[in-house]
Order: sequence, then structure tokens, then C-alpha cells
Amino acid sequence: MFRSIRFVPLTIRLFAGRIARFRVWRIDNVRRKLVVGNWKMYGRLARNQELLQGVLAGVRELRGADYAVCVPYPYLAQAQSLLQGSNVAWGAQNLSPNEEGAFTGAVAPGMLTDFGCKFVIIGHSERRGLFHESNEVASAKFDAAQKAGMTPIFCVGETLAERESDITEQVVATQLDAVLDRAGVQALSNAVIAYEPVWAIGTGKTASPEQAQAVHAFIRRRVGGHDPEVAEKLCILYGGSVKAANAEALFGMADIDGGLIGGASLVAEEFVAICRAAQK
Ligand code: 13P
Repeated sequence: MFRSIRFVPLTIRLFAGRIARFRVWRIDNVRRKLVVGNWKMYGRLARNQELLQGVLAGVRELRGADYAVCVPYPYLAQAQSLLQGSNVAWGAQNLSPNEEGAFTGAVAPGMLTDFGCKFVIIGHSERRGLFHESNEVASAKFDAAQKAGMTPIFCVGETLAERESDITEQVVATQLDAVLDRAGVQALSNAVIAYEPVWAIGTGKTASPEQAQAVHAFIRRRVGGHDPEVAEKLCILYGGSVKAANAEALFGMADIDGGLIGGASLVAEEFVAICRAAQK
């Protein structure tokens, strides 16, 4: 009797210690996977509703990863009304670095938070290429997004010519340094980096898991040079022709923490299958 009374608290203490150690390990070592759809300039009210309902139905039961869609500005209210209270967050694909003012056609960070945006994509290669967005502008937008309380998804990646000239790491380092220099490494503790090789975007040519992993590891090492803890926790997505058929192999790599999905995010079953691959 006495022995058992003395024994019980000890057992509980040991058990509690194990739980505590397990929880610390999980917090320190496990990055949650994230799958984000980038709709680009696609969508219409009726189509979006069908797509979002399909995504919600497929993702509702999934646990252990995070999901989001970044929609065109006019559909933010629709995304908010359909996704509120679900396990799918939403966001935008661009923003102005300015709070307000005479900037015809631009959209301020506070306008995005008015519609509940959690994420905003910054420095996508289509913005850099087609709209001549410099590293300087992209890093200013990164800053503005964080100041407004959103999580920037900052895109980096090389063109085919740059890869063939063997300067991938140099290009990615310059893009990343624009943020590190302006906002500081701590800013990356509330940010997501997306590695999107330009040659793999919309081309059907995916980077192999090994090619992507090599650049992801490079990004983590470079951030780790500033702060190892921030680097360890940093979520680094891969983007560029991710599909249900290749998602699992990509997400299985040590430094790939999910995906930024273009074309395949416009088809509910395909996007849901990619989200499911992030569970594994
Ligand atoms: P795709 O998945 O269509 O190649 O697009 C990738 C992308 O640009 C996501 O931001």
C-alpha cells in the first residue's frame, strides 16, 4: 500500500517528463508542411465557388499541415466568406509597399487585412519579370506585408540561363539578401520562402526532388549563417509544376516544407491530392 502510493507520483512525474521532452522535441525539430495555391490571374465567381467548395470538402479532414489559397484581389471577399472558420487560409498575390496615397491601381496592405488575408505572395518571378519588380521593391513589399500583420511568401529562383551558367546559388542569395539586409534575419521567423525556379513554372518541367532539395538546403544554410534557430524553423516551399503525381517525392525531401502551386491549384481534386501528400 505505502509502496504503491509512493510509486504513483514517481510514475506520473516520469511520464510527465517524457511528455514534456516529446513536446519540446516536436517544437524544436518539426516544421509543419504548408501547401499554398497561387491562382494567378484565373477565376470567375461561379468557378471559384465550385473550386473552393471542392477544396474545403477534400481538405476538411486533413490534419498536421496548413493550407491556403492566394486569389486575385476581387475575389478576396468571396474567399473570406467561403473559407472563414475552415482549415484553409487565404491571401493575395501582391501588394503596394505604401500604406495609402495617390497610387492608381495599387492595393494597400491594410486593404488586404480588411479582408482577412493571412498570406501575401511577394516577388513572384512573374512580378519580377513581367512587371520589372526589383529586389529592392520586393523587399519593401515584404516589410510592408509584415508591418500589416501578414505572413509574406517571398519567392526566389533562377532562370534557365542562370542555371545553365551555374549561378543559381548566386541569384538566390542576392534575392534572399535583399530581405535579410533590409528586414533582418528575425523577420524570417514570420515569413515563408518559396523557391521557384523560373524554368519550372508553368512548363510542366519540375525540378527533380534532388535539384530542389539542393537549393532549399542552400537557402537554409544561408539563413543559418545569420541565425541557426530561425533557419531551422523556416518554412521553405517549392514551386514549379507541382502536381499530385510528383508532390510526395518533393515533400519527402529534408528541406522542402510544402509547395506553392500554380496550375494544379485550379483543379480541386488535384490540389486536394497535393494537400494530402503533405500529410505523409
Ligand atoms: P505552376 O505550378 O503552374 O508551374 O506555377 C508555379 C507558380 O508559379 C506558383 O507560384
